Amino acid sequence: MPRNTRSRPPAEPTTGEPATGPGPPQCGVCRDTGLEYVGDRGPRFCDCPQGEARRRAVWLRECGVPRARRGETLVAFQALPGTWKALAAAREFLAGGLRWLLLYGPSGNGKSHLAIGITLALVEAGTQARWANTFTLLSDLRGLPDQARAGMLLELGSVSVLALDELVWGTDLEARWVEEIITRRYLEKMPLVVTTNRDIKEVPAPIVSRFYELGRAVLNQGRDYRKERAGAWNLNKPKP
Ligand SMILES: Nc1ncnc2c1ncn2[C@@H]1O[C@H](COP(=O)(O)OP(=O)(O)OP(=O)(O)O)[C@@H](O)[C@H]1O
Ligand SMILES: [Mg+2]
Ligand SMILES: [Zn+2]
Repeated sequence: MPRNTRSRPPAEPTTGEPATGPGPPQCGVCRDTGLEYVGDRGPRFCDCPQGEARRRAVWLRECGVPRARRGETLVAFQALPGTWKALAAAREFLAGGLRWLLLYGPSGNGKSHLAIGITLALVEAGTQARWANTFTLLSDLRGLPDQARAGMLLELGSVSVLALDELVWGTDLEARWVEEIITRRYLEKMPLVVTTNRDIKEVPAPIVSRFYELGRAVLNQGRDYRKERAGAWNLNKPKP
């Protein structure tokens, strides 16, 4: 799967301070700031370890994975009974063997964890990946003026890899926004991960069909990890 690893300017102005300690700079191009300036086109990430580190830090901040869930890596995912196919598919997606991956199944069995794990692994490997919870994404889109909303839809349609978590929509208009993102990605065969705890029959057939064309739809049959964890805590609690 082609992954876009092209450098691009950071989203926010930086101080230009060196990323390394005192002593002569290791990189003569960026003087260890990780940023180089080419003509009047503004800063871009330098092709040196400091530039790589800076790019990863910016992309991690921008990838949409909430801070509280940054520990949900593929390494941290336990291969519990019923989750093997989903975990294997996540690894296959990461290795480039699948362009599209739909993870579905009951609540709490790690679908979001896997989508987050994929996103974090890609960012770590130098690919610009985005994760978004569909519910909050739609809320953000509703609050935007038309032009900004169009820009955001375009960006979500074209970012190197997108994970749309908990596929959902309320109104026809929201359905159209979701459809626009998915269609843009379909037309350009851009990598996409979607998760849902709905019955697959409730996901529109044309969407499911496209997953089979470009990848796979996988049922995660694991049990509710949240419930089991709560059960274990209850067992460990001293009896009153
Ligand atoms: N196999 C697993 N190994 C480690 N942690 C897990 C595993 N499965 C789930 N968890 C943890 O359990 C919590 C719930 O998982 P997650 O949010 O991924 O569930 P989900 O399938 O997306 O549920 P829902 O359908 O309700 O959104 C998370 O904190 C996640 O890290
Ligand atoms: Mg989820
Ligand atoms: Zn450099």
